Formats: sequence, C-alpha cells, structure tokens
Amino acid sequence: MRMIDIIETKKRKETLSKEQIDFAVNGYTGGEIPDYQMSALLMAVYLNGMNPRETRDLTLSMAASGDQMDLSGIKGVKVDKHSTGGVGDKTSMVIGPIVAACGVPVAKMSGRGLGHTGGTIDKLESIPGFETMLAPEQFISQTNKIGMCLVGQTGNLTPADKKIYALRDVTATVDNLSLIASSIMSKKIAAGADAILLDVKTGSGAFMKTKEEAAALAKEMITIGKNAGRKTAALITNMDVPLGNAIGNALEVIEATQTLRGEGPHDLETLCLELAAAMLELAGKGTETDCRAMAQEALTSGRALEKWKEVVKAQGGDSAYIEDLSLFPKAEIIRPYRAARSGYLDRFDTEACGIAACMLGAGRETKEDTIDFRAGIVLLKKLGDYVEEGEPIAMFHTSSEQQFLEASRKMETAVTISGQVPQPKPLIYAKLTEAGL
Ligand code: URA
Repeated sequence: MRMIDIIETKKRKETLSKEQIDFAVNGYTGGEIPDYQMSALLMAVYLNGMNPRETRDLTLSMAASGDQMDLSGIKGVKVDKHSTGGVGDKTSMVIGPIVAACGVPVAKMSGRGLGHTGGTIDKLESIPGFETMLAPEQFISQTNKIGMCLVGQTGNLTPADKKIYALRDVTATVDNLSLIASSIMSKKIAAGADAILLDVKTGSGAFMKTKEEAAALAKEMITIGKNAGRKTAALITNMDVPLGNAIGNALEVIEATQTLRGEGPHDLETLCLELAAAMLELAGKGTETDCRAMAQEALTSGRALEKWKEVVKAQGGDSAYIEDLSLFPKAEIIRPYRAARSGYLDRFDTEACGIAACMLGAGRETKEDTIDFRAGIVLLKKLGDYVEEGEPIAMFHTSSEQQFLEASRKMETAVTISGQVPQPKPLIYAKLTEAGL
C-alpha cells in the first residue's frame, strides 16, 4: 500500500477502506509517513468528507494507536466530558471539581488549543508547576485518591490524535465533522471512562456554525460511543458569543477559579452547572432535578473550590496562585479596546474574537510556537450591551505594540455595533441521548 494512492482515492471523492485508514494512521504515528503527505490527506478528507463507516474506522484506528486505559481500578461510574471547542470555554476546570465533589470520579484527558479555540491543557500549564503529563498509573491513583485528575495525551494514549491534532491546528483542517468526531471519540474511548458527556458548541465561535451541523456531529459521536459500549450524551450549546469574559490561558484559569468561588460570570456558571448535572445524571446519581440540586450545592458550599485546590496541589501546581489570583504574572501591555461608535453590541464574530486573542499571544500559528500564558482578552461588554463611542469593550493583554495593533484590526471585524437590541439566544439548545433528542 502507498500513501500517495490513499491521498489520490480521497482526492477523487472515493471511500477509504479500513485497511487504507489503518495504514495512514499507523504510518503517520510511527513516523514513516511525513507531515506533508498526512496534511494532503487531511485536506482531501476536509474537502471531500468521510462517510459514517470511514469516520468510525478512523476513530477506532486512532483509539488503538496507543495504550488504552483500564479504569476498572477506580471505584464508581467514571464520567468524562469533552467540548468540541469554543472561545473562552474554561468549563472543564469548573465542572470537574463540582462533579468530583459530588462523589463521581472524573478521570479526564484534555487537549491543547486548536485553531481559534483554547485547550484545557494549555490553560492548566499556566499554573506554575502544574503537571499535565502523568503516567497512566498516576492518572488512576490520583483519581482514586482525590476523585479527579486532568491530563493531556500522556504516555502512549492516542498518539495518532496527538500528532494529527497538532497538524490540523496549523493546516486549516480543523472544522470537519469526521475529523472532530474521530479526534474526540478516539481520546474518550482510549481514556477508558464508562460514560461520556459531549458539549457540542454551535455558533460563530464554534467549528460547527449551525445547529444542524452540531446535531449531526453530536449524533455521530453518540453512535460511536454507543458502539464502543460507553453511555454517551450531548448538550448542544451556544458559542455565538465567548463564554464568560476571559479568553486566554491564565486569564481563564483566574475566571474558572472565580466561578468556583461563586464570583464568576452568569453564563459560565449556568452552563457549568447544567453540564455538571448532566454528568451526574450519566453517572446514575438521580433525576435531572436531583442532579442540578447536587451540583448547585457542591458549588455554593465551596466544596467544589476545595476540590479544585486539591487537584492543583496533587498535580504539582502552586496552589498559592489559586488562593491569591493576583499572583498570576501580568502582560506588559494591558490596554482597552474601544467602541468605534455608540450603539448596542449586536453581533460577535466569536471566531474572529478567538483569532484576535491568538494574535495577542494566547495561541499558536505553527506547531513549534510557544504560548504567552498571560496574553488574551477580557470582555467588559457582552451581546446586547449599550456602548458609547470610545468606551472600552474589552481589555487586551499582550506583550508588544504590534500584536496589540494586529489584534485590534481583527477585533474590528469581530464586533458589530448597531441601533438595534439583538434577540437573546438560549445558552443551551438541546440535549441528545442514545434514546434520541
Ligand atoms: N476537540 C478535540 O479534541 N478535537 C477536535 O477535533 C475538536 C475539539
């Protein structure tokens, strides 16, 4: 078999066999197939798509590319959650501690930033000392001991996704249903949880721009989960506006911690409570109403915040930063981005907002780029707010004038100000389970 023939097949819009998919995945993971050939295949898949059978074969091939976790040593129903990616999406750092504080073990494997979206692992690494690369034994023993562990693709877990994810990030091949479904579900299957909650984002800041695309992605991932013997459910949630106010790594750790203290933005807190309740329900902790009450209690009582501190400490992070958020280093330039005219904030192009945050230093443009953990955006105004000309809409955190100017130019395309108050949109559109919508 030759990689060039596999690329040719997809270029001609034909379907790939399981053997061809395994050949490409294993060859790339093993280093025999170079980046340029895999990039060409990814772009052919991006442009010409994959059918559900190819998507499932790709998922299983990636899941089998490395070790598979056996979490049977952890007591209770292990629930994992994964977001399809958004701007300002720091929910894992809030939901994990809430769910763990309710007695449900959270053994979660997360990713790095992808395209215009941030990744939990990059965010966690902005806490000095926080170790995201734990050996599988440590992952299991920490979850057993304190009920929660947050890791990256450590050891030899889904090495195929690790490599393909990094390549997609810099080759404009992210927002494709088959590539997203296989990336997420391969990690979830290999990470070994019994149940999986998917937060499928839709809107201007999501990879799936319409509710229909998001529903199709959710259904595909639920089917893959079900076939792999994992109880899987999905919420379809709004990403037409950044979630919360902070975008950027350390800025998001700060906001997640504030939310656990009960001082976070309303949209973020509401979504986190709903997602946490859905995870508790998947774990069999009770009805939707019981689980909502349980999640709320864990947050209000401060038990979730205590769990977060425990996790930070257990993974080597300096918990002084969580106790005193002012310890996080600040960017050299912290400057307002101002409204060009008076009116209502009518529309956010949230993807452009995410790109502006990357331009400030919060994301990568090449695989080798390093992230400036301090960089990003803190929104002062959200959709529907009235602003006067010249009033600050957001604070930009960066390290150079040039980055500030480039990001400001990008932000001009991200914000629409008009005379009309926009129609409010729901935070959660739908819940899908194996049984249907
Ligand atoms: N999250 C992932 O892990 N992979 C994707 O492709 C998108 C979001």
